[in-house]
Amino acid sequence: MQVVTTVAELRKQITVWKQQGNKIVLVPTMGNLHAGHLMLMKHAHECGEKIICSIFVNARQFDRDEDLQAYPRTPEQDLAALQEENVDLVFMPEHDEVYAQEHMPQKKIPKYSLNDQLCGQFRPGFFDGIVEVVARLFHIVMPDIAVFGEKDFQQLTIIKRLVEDMGFPISIEQVPTQREDDGLAYSSRNSYLSASERMQAKQIYETLVNVKTQIELGSHPFNDIENHAMKMLMKAGFQPDYVSIRNAKNLTPASYDTDFIIILVAAWLGKARLIDNLLLQKR
Ligand code: PAF
Repeated sequence: MQVVTTVAELRKQITVWKQQGNKIVLVPTMGNLHAGHLMLMKHAHECGEKIICSIFVNARQFDRDEDLQAYPRTPEQDLAALQEENVDLVFMPEHDEVYAQEHMPQKKIPKYSLNDQLCGQFRPGFFDGIVEVVARLFHIVMPDIAVFGEKDFQQLTIIKRLVEDMGFPISIEQVPTQREDDGLAYSSRNSYLSASERMQAKQIYETLVNVKTQIELGSHPFNDIENHAMKMLMKAGFQPDYVSIRNAKNLTPASYDTDFIIILVAAWLGKARLIDNLLLQKR
Protein backbone atom coordinates (compact mmCIF):
# COMPACT_ATOMS: atom_id res chain seq x y z
CA MET A 1 0.00 0.00 0.00
CA GLN A 2 1.39 3.37 -1.00
CA VAL A 3 0.91 6.44 1.15
CA VAL A 4 1.29 9.78 -0.65
CA THR A 5 0.83 13.36 0.46
CA THR A 6 1.18 15.32 -2.78
CA VAL A 7 -1.05 15.60 -5.84
CA ALA A 8 2.01 15.12 -8.09
CA GLU A 9 2.84 11.69 -6.59
CA LEU A 10 -0.82 10.70 -6.66
CA ARG A 11 -1.33 11.64 -10.31
CA LYS A 12 1.86 9.84 -11.37
CA GLN A 13 0.53 6.57 -9.97
CA ILE A 14 -3.00 7.11 -11.31
CA THR A 15 -1.63 7.74 -14.82
CA VAL A 16 0.19 4.39 -14.75
CA TRP A 17 -2.89 2.57 -13.46
CA LYS A 18 -5.13 4.17 -16.08
CA GLN A 19 -2.69 3.26 -18.87
CA GLN A 20 -2.94 -0.35 -17.67
CA GLY A 21 -6.71 -0.12 -18.06
CA ASN A 22 -7.59 -0.21 -14.35
CA LYS A 23 -10.77 1.34 -12.99
CA ILE A 24 -9.94 3.73 -10.16
CA VAL A 25 -12.22 3.87 -7.10
CA LEU A 26 -11.98 6.71 -4.59
CA VAL A 27 -13.25 6.49 -1.01
CA PRO A 28 -13.02 9.97 0.56
CA THR A 29 -12.78 9.99 4.38
CA MET A 30 -11.69 12.19 7.26
CA GLY A 31 -9.92 9.26 8.93
CA ASN A 32 -10.64 7.73 12.35
CA LEU A 33 -11.93 4.77 10.40
CA HIS A 34 -14.57 2.45 11.85
CA ALA A 35 -16.52 -0.59 10.64
CA GLY A 36 -18.72 1.65 8.47
CA HIS A 37 -15.70 2.96 6.55
CA LEU A 38 -14.27 -0.52 6.16
CA MET A 39 -17.51 -1.58 4.50
CA LEU A 40 -16.98 1.25 1.99
CA MET A 41 -13.52 -0.19 1.21
CA LYS A 42 -14.99 -3.67 0.75
CA HIS A 43 -17.60 -2.27 -1.61
CA ALA A 44 -14.91 -0.35 -3.50
CA HIS A 45 -13.20 -3.65 -4.39
CA GLU A 46 -16.43 -4.79 -6.06
CA CYS A 47 -16.47 -1.65 -8.23
CA GLY A 48 -12.95 -1.44 -9.66
CA GLU A 49 -9.34 -2.57 -9.61
CA LYS A 50 -7.41 0.16 -7.82
CA ILE A 51 -8.70 1.55 -4.53
CA ILE A 52 -7.64 4.97 -3.29
CA CYS A 53 -8.68 6.16 0.17
CA SER A 54 -8.23 9.84 0.99
CA ILE A 55 -7.78 10.89 4.60
CA PHE A 56 -8.23 14.62 4.96
CA VAL A 57 -9.83 16.44 7.89
CA ASN A 58 -11.46 19.23 5.95
CA ALA A 59 -11.34 22.37 8.12
CA ARG A 60 -13.89 24.15 5.88
CA GLN A 61 -16.74 21.84 6.91
CA PHE A 62 -16.35 22.59 10.64
CA ASP A 63 -18.27 25.58 11.92
CA ARG A 64 -16.45 25.80 15.24
CA ASP A 65 -12.72 25.60 15.77
CA GLU A 66 -13.15 23.48 18.93
CA ASP A 67 -14.96 20.85 16.95
CA LEU A 68 -12.15 20.79 14.38
CA GLN A 69 -9.44 20.56 17.07
CA ALA A 70 -11.33 17.82 18.92
CA TYR A 71 -12.01 15.73 15.82
CA PRO A 72 -10.40 12.31 16.45
CA ARG A 73 -7.21 11.72 14.44
CA THR A 74 -5.83 8.17 14.40
CA PRO A 75 -3.53 7.93 11.35
CA GLU A 76 -1.53 4.87 12.45
CA GLN A 77 -4.61 2.84 13.25
CA ASP A 78 -6.23 3.98 9.99
CA LEU A 79 -3.27 2.94 7.86
CA ALA A 80 -3.17 -0.50 9.52
CA ALA A 81 -6.90 -0.96 8.85
CA LEU A 82 -6.58 0.14 5.22
CA GLN A 83 -3.68 -2.23 4.70
CA GLU A 84 -5.91 -5.06 5.99
CA GLU A 85 -8.58 -4.03 3.47
CA ASN A 86 -6.05 -4.20 0.62
CA VAL A 87 -6.39 -0.56 -0.26
CA ASP A 88 -3.84 0.30 -2.97
CA LEU A 89 -3.09 3.91 -2.12
CA VAL A 90 -3.81 6.33 0.71
CA PHE A 91 -3.81 10.04 -0.10
CA MET A 92 -3.08 12.09 3.05
CA PRO A 93 -2.59 15.67 1.89
CA GLU A 94 -2.04 18.81 3.94
CA HIS A 95 -4.62 21.60 3.78
CA ASP A 96 -2.63 23.76 1.32
CA GLU A 97 -2.19 20.87 -1.11
CA VAL A 98 -5.95 20.37 -1.51
CA TYR A 99 -6.80 24.08 -1.40
CA ALA A 100 -4.13 25.22 -3.88
CA GLN A 101 -5.67 27.48 -6.54
CA GLU A 102 -4.73 25.04 -9.32
CA HIS A 103 -6.88 22.28 -7.79
CA MET A 104 -10.04 24.32 -7.99
CA PRO A 105 -12.30 22.91 -10.74
CA GLN A 106 -12.70 25.36 -13.61
CA LYS A 107 -16.49 25.20 -13.56
CA LYS A 108 -18.13 27.22 -10.79
CA ILE A 109 -19.12 25.04 -7.82
CA PRO A 110 -22.91 25.25 -7.41
CA LYS A 111 -24.59 26.35 -4.19
CA TYR A 112 -27.77 24.40 -3.43
CA SER A 113 -30.65 25.50 -1.20
CA LEU A 114 -30.49 21.97 0.25
CA ASN A 115 -27.08 22.95 1.72
CA ASP A 116 -28.93 25.14 4.24
CA GLN A 117 -31.66 22.69 5.21
CA LEU A 118 -31.79 19.80 7.72
CA CYS A 119 -28.20 19.51 9.07
CA GLY A 120 -27.24 22.63 7.11
CA GLN A 121 -29.75 24.69 9.09
CA PHE A 122 -27.91 23.82 12.31
CA ARG A 123 -24.36 23.78 10.91
CA PRO A 124 -24.03 26.86 8.68
CA GLY A 125 -21.49 26.39 5.88
CA PHE A 126 -21.10 22.67 6.58
CA PHE A 127 -22.33 21.44 3.20
CA ASP A 128 -20.66 24.32 1.33
CA GLY A 129 -17.38 23.05 2.84
CA ILE A 130 -18.15 19.46 1.87
CA VAL A 131 -19.15 20.38 -1.68
CA GLU A 132 -15.94 22.35 -2.15
CA VAL A 133 -13.61 19.65 -0.84
CA VAL A 134 -15.37 16.85 -2.71
CA ALA A 135 -15.26 18.87 -5.96
CA ARG A 136 -11.53 19.46 -5.39
CA LEU A 137 -10.85 15.80 -4.55
CA PHE A 138 -12.76 14.69 -7.65
CA HIS A 139 -10.82 17.20 -9.77
CA ILE A 140 -7.51 15.98 -8.28
CA VAL A 141 -8.15 12.22 -8.46
CA MET A 142 -10.67 11.94 -11.33
CA PRO A 143 -11.71 8.45 -10.25
CA ASP A 144 -14.09 6.31 -12.32
CA ILE A 145 -16.14 5.60 -9.21
CA ALA A 146 -16.48 7.22 -5.77
CA VAL A 147 -18.02 5.47 -2.77
CA PHE A 148 -20.05 7.13 0.02
CA GLY A 149 -22.13 5.82 2.94
CA GLU A 150 -25.89 6.24 3.22
CA LYS A 151 -25.48 7.33 6.85
CA ASP A 152 -24.68 10.84 5.59
CA PHE A 153 -27.69 10.79 3.32
CA GLN A 154 -27.92 14.54 2.83
CA GLN A 155 -24.23 14.64 1.88
CA LEU A 156 -24.80 11.76 -0.56
CA THR A 157 -27.78 13.51 -2.17
CA ILE A 158 -25.86 16.77 -2.57
CA ILE A 159 -22.78 15.01 -4.00
CA LYS A 160 -24.89 13.13 -6.59
CA ARG A 161 -26.32 16.46 -7.72
CA LEU A 162 -22.85 18.04 -7.77
CA VAL A 163 -21.48 15.29 -10.03
CA GLU A 164 -24.35 15.78 -12.44
CA ASP A 165 -24.17 19.59 -12.48
CA MET A 166 -20.39 19.77 -12.81
CA GLY A 167 -20.30 17.02 -15.42
CA PHE A 168 -17.77 14.88 -13.54
CA PRO A 169 -17.48 11.52 -15.38
CA ILE A 170 -17.69 9.68 -12.04
CA SER A 171 -20.30 7.14 -10.87
CA ILE A 172 -21.36 7.45 -7.27
CA GLU A 173 -21.81 4.22 -5.32
CA GLN A 174 -23.71 4.22 -2.04
CA VAL A 175 -23.34 1.74 0.80
CA PRO A 176 -25.98 1.03 3.50
CA THR A 177 -25.33 2.22 7.06
CA GLN A 178 -23.42 -0.18 9.29
CA ARG A 179 -24.82 -0.55 12.80
CA GLU A 180 -23.65 -1.88 16.13
CA ASP A 181 -25.70 -4.76 17.65
CA ASP A 182 -28.10 -2.37 19.42
CA GLY A 183 -28.76 -0.38 16.22
CA LEU A 184 -26.44 2.60 16.81
CA ALA A 185 -24.89 3.63 13.48
CA TYR A 186 -21.08 3.60 13.43
CA SER A 187 -19.67 7.12 13.57
CA SER A 188 -16.38 8.75 14.53
CA ARG A 189 -18.40 10.96 16.87
CA ASN A 190 -19.59 7.97 18.96
CA SER A 191 -16.23 8.20 20.73
CA TYR A 192 -17.48 11.42 22.40
CA LEU A 193 -20.17 9.43 24.29
CA SER A 194 -19.72 8.49 27.95
CA ALA A 195 -20.53 4.90 28.96
CA SER A 196 -24.05 5.84 30.09
CA GLU A 197 -24.69 8.01 27.00
CA ARG A 198 -23.56 5.11 24.85
CA MET A 199 -26.37 3.00 26.43
CA GLN A 200 -28.92 5.74 25.71
CA ALA A 201 -27.68 6.31 22.16
CA LYS A 202 -29.51 3.31 20.72
CA GLN A 203 -32.73 5.27 21.16
CA ILE A 204 -31.92 7.22 18.02
CA TYR A 205 -32.42 4.10 15.93
CA GLU A 206 -35.41 3.03 18.03
CA THR A 207 -37.00 6.41 17.29
CA LEU A 208 -36.46 5.93 13.55
CA VAL A 209 -38.07 2.48 13.69
CA ASN A 210 -40.96 3.91 15.68
CA VAL A 211 -41.52 6.70 13.13
CA LYS A 212 -41.43 4.12 10.33
CA THR A 213 -44.14 2.09 12.10
CA GLN A 214 -46.27 5.22 12.55
CA ILE A 215 -45.96 6.01 8.83
CA GLU A 216 -46.88 2.45 7.92
CA LEU A 217 -49.95 2.62 10.18
CA GLY A 218 -50.90 5.75 8.27
CA SER A 219 -53.07 7.27 10.96
CA HIS A 220 -51.29 10.58 11.69
CA PRO A 221 -50.08 13.58 9.66
CA PHE A 222 -46.28 13.55 9.20
CA ASN A 223 -45.92 16.75 11.23
CA ASP A 224 -47.50 15.11 14.26
CA ILE A 225 -45.28 12.04 13.89
CA GLU A 226 -42.16 14.24 13.69
CA ASN A 227 -43.19 16.31 16.72
CA HIS A 228 -43.97 13.22 18.76
CA ALA A 229 -40.56 11.71 17.89
CA MET A 230 -38.83 14.97 18.95
CA LYS A 231 -40.64 14.82 22.30
CA MET A 232 -39.67 11.18 22.81
CA LEU A 233 -36.01 11.99 22.14
CA MET A 234 -36.10 14.93 24.58
CA LYS A 235 -37.65 12.69 27.23
CA ALA A 236 -34.83 10.20 26.65
CA GLY A 237 -32.21 12.91 27.38
CA PHE A 238 -31.37 14.03 23.83
CA GLN A 239 -31.46 17.56 22.46
CA PRO A 240 -32.83 16.89 18.99
CA ASP A 241 -32.09 19.30 16.12
CA TYR A 242 -34.72 17.71 13.87
CA VAL A 243 -36.71 14.63 12.98
CA SER A 244 -37.84 14.96 9.38
CA ILE A 245 -39.78 12.75 6.97
CA ARG A 246 -38.61 13.46 3.42
CA ASN A 247 -38.72 12.28 -0.16
CA ALA A 248 -35.62 10.09 -0.48
CA LYS A 249 -35.12 11.11 -4.12
CA ASN A 250 -34.49 14.81 -3.48
CA LEU A 251 -35.02 15.42 0.26
CA THR A 252 -38.06 17.65 -0.23
CA PRO A 253 -40.77 17.23 2.46
CA ALA A 254 -42.71 13.99 1.98
CA SER A 255 -46.41 13.15 2.13
CA TYR A 256 -48.33 9.88 2.19
CA ASP A 257 -48.25 10.00 -1.63
CA THR A 258 -44.43 9.93 -1.73
CA ASP A 259 -43.15 6.59 -3.09
CA PHE A 260 -39.71 6.54 -1.58
CA ILE A 261 -39.52 7.99 1.92
CA ILE A 262 -36.57 8.61 4.24
CA ILE A 263 -36.75 9.53 7.92
CA LEU A 264 -33.80 11.66 9.04
CA VAL A 265 -32.76 12.57 12.56
CA ALA A 266 -30.05 14.67 14.18
CA ALA A 267 -29.78 14.95 17.96
CA TRP A 268 -27.22 15.93 20.55
CA LEU A 269 -26.36 13.54 23.35
CA GLY A 270 -23.80 15.12 25.67
CA LYS A 271 -20.92 16.31 23.46
CA ALA A 272 -21.90 14.16 20.47
CA ARG A 273 -24.15 15.25 17.64
CA LEU A 274 -25.55 12.02 16.26
CA ILE A 275 -27.25 11.68 12.89
CA ASP A 276 -29.06 8.71 11.42
CA ASN A 277 -31.73 7.86 8.88
CA LEU A 278 -34.01 5.06 7.78
CA LEU A 279 -35.30 4.40 4.27
CA LEU A 280 -38.80 3.05 3.79
CA GLN A 281 -39.41 0.47 1.11
CA LYS A 282 -41.68 1.56 -1.70
CA ARG A 283 -45.22 0.73 -0.63
O1 PAF B 1 -18.13 11.99 5.00
C1 PAF B 1 -16.99 12.46 5.24
O2 PAF B 1 -16.16 11.85 5.92
C2 PAF B 1 -16.63 13.85 4.73
O3 PAF B 1 -17.71 14.70 4.77
C3 PAF B 1 -16.01 13.82 3.32
C4 PAF B 1 -16.99 13.31 2.28
C5 PAF B 1 -14.76 12.96 3.33
C6 PAF B 1 -15.61 15.25 2.90
O4 PAF B 1 -14.70 15.81 3.78
